[in-house]
Amino acid sequence: MFPLTRPRRLRRSEALRELVRETRVVPSDLVYPLFVVPGKGVRREIAAMPGSYHLSVDELLAEAGAARDDGIRSLLLFGIPERKDERGTEAWDDSAAVQTAVRALKDRHPELIVFTDVCLCEYTSHGHCGIVENGHVLNDPTLELLARAALSHARAGADIVAPSDMMDGRVARIREALDGDGRHEVAILSYAAKYASAFYGPFREAAGSTPQFGDRRGYQMDPGNSDEALLEVGLDLEEGADIVMVKPALAYLDVIRRVKDEFRVPVAAYNVSGEYSMLQAAASRGWIDRERAMLEVLTSIKRAGADVILTYHAREAARLLA
Ligand code: PBG
Repeated sequence: MFPLTRPRRLRRSEALRELVRETRVVPSDLVYPLFVVPGKGVRREIAAMPGSYHLSVDELLAEAGAARDDGIRSLLLFGIPERKDERGTEAWDDSAAVQTAVRALKDRHPELIVFTDVCLCEYTSHGHCGIVENGHVLNDPTLELLARAALSHARAGADIVAPSDMMDGRVARIREALDGDGRHEVAILSYAAKYASAFYGPFREAAGSTPQFGDRRGYQMDPGNSDEALLEVGLDLEEGADIVMVKPALAYLDVIRRVKDEFRVPVAAYNVSGEYSMLQAAASRGWIDRERAMLEVLTSIKRAGADVILTYHAREAARLLA
């Protein structure tokens, strides 16, 4: 007790603070999400996400190389299709943007870990994450399509497939499809506790995936629940998930901590588009210090228990942390 105990003694210099720092974010914690579009020579800034781009495969290779030079080791790919339809058929088209990008990345930058987002909402005309009938998203028939998409990513060379749809049973179905094709080494990161969140707004503009009717509350989780997050994570682990994710990150730091404490498995957290764009917007007005706020946010997510952080700030953060 004071005056014997004076916590300020260890805060007197940066050297002392570093000596006793409990949580350190390092570039290898970060996964850098990228949006792949059809075409050539495309590098178009996403209006709602300043600093993020729609990239054609050639431009994506350049961005991946630059990110690697900044210290990034992992990328997550989202695909924007040429054409959308009711079932999202381009999601499992071997020659679509994501599959082409994965093959090119594995060829040019084999040292990078390639994650692919597995979902239908970017590919369906109605913008929902599964097959729609009478205004409802059907669970079991959707599983087959997700498995096809995941397998097509794996065949292109993806290291980790990441289903983000929130259908029940999808991890088991995807694991079965991968193993049935001899792809035992391909890992699954499941978006296990994914909440129906307002913070995906900018992403939906980037992916053109805003639902054309209704919303995603019939499959994504209610923000009030955290016991249910443990149920979701437990199920996904039983079904064969290798890494489980909580999404979004900042409004759900308590959920990240509960998941880590309960299961002691690799936990990921997604610092989503709305979290990113809020920070960019406030900083562009001079209201907050962008670099400090960004590192503070990433540190808080890691301190909460995340081993892996998906963030659009990845490149810049990696440079600052180097
Ligand atoms: C697709 C998907 C979404 C995000 C990742 N995968 C959007 C959604 O569920 O509407 C959000 C990513 C972000 O906001 O950064 N299902």
